Amino acid sequence: NEQTAVKEAAPAQTRLPDAQTVTEVQHYTDRLFRFRVTRPQSLRFRSGEFVMIGLMGDPDPKTGRQKPLLRAYSIASPSWDEELEFYSIKVPDGPLTSKLQNIKVGDEIILRPKPVGTLVHDALLPGKRLWFFSTGTGIAPFASLIREPQTYEDYDEIILTHTCRDVAELKYGADLVESIKQDELLQELIGDGLNKLRYYPTTTREESPRMGRITELLKDGTVFSDLGIDGISKETDRAMVCGSIGLNNDLKEILEGYGLSEGANSEPAEYVVEKAFVG
Ligand code: A2P
Repeated sequence: NEQTAVKEAAPAQTRLPDAQTVTEVQHYTDRLFRFRVTRPQSLRFRSGEFVMIGLMGDPDPKTGRQKPLLRAYSIASPSWDEELEFYSIKVPDGPLTSKLQNIKVGDEIILRPKPVGTLVHDALLPGKRLWFFSTGTGIAPFASLIREPQTYEDYDEIILTHTCRDVAELKYGADLVESIKQDELLQELIGDGLNKLRYYPTTTREESPRMGRITELLKDGTVFSDLGIDGISKETDRAMVCGSIGLNNDLKEILEGYGLSEGANSEPAEYVVEKAFVG
């Protein structure tokens, strides 16, 4: 659980921070941005995992000492990428994101090279169809997994759903899916397998071609009729869920209703869940 990870990693650190350099920043809306940083040579991770990243906090008014301000962030780039990508919300008075949103190319961030997480292939039993259910910045781990060759080796069909308030908030995912289909390196790694990827974006507060919360669209069968699928079953379907606590709980109930049970690294099953970083 990312909350626990935050608590464990946040206490005052006396050793020098693990600095990485920002190589790219792109702002999408006043609430969302993406950035890339250099990757520590020794860092190995499984696509879908998260790490603790952050900045030095303000000096303590009494002692003048600075402590790192760290939060859990899913790595949005695949495990083979030479850089690391992150997708972040901007919270106006968020201790970290109010500062992090101002980073520029050449700046340094702190990155603790200890990747962990449950949204990994190892936590799922073999299946035919893999669902990635996300809201908001919860798409980040799936941005990694849809660029991971294993995803296409292990499944016949991959469905990425992304629900956001408005169309502008879908842009990161929409651009990514589009670019993946054109990417030469990915074509080489994954080939025709990329055609297995299906993208299902929905909005809840602004008019768009498909409106509504994914949970409602599952319950009333709209998702299935839109995609030409019979439904979700324990035999064929596997799912990874990443969004707000509300989304995660509601989807857990829906997936359990289809007969799927929750897996973990130590005990793979039919679906896994992780809370998106929320500032
Ligand atoms: P809604 O607009 O109906 O709240 P946020 O930007 O607040 O993190 O939300 C991202 C998206 O997740 C929004 O479209 C929001 O819909 C949706 N959402 C929030 N809670 C749930 C939930 N329990 N089940 C499904 N979707 C949810």
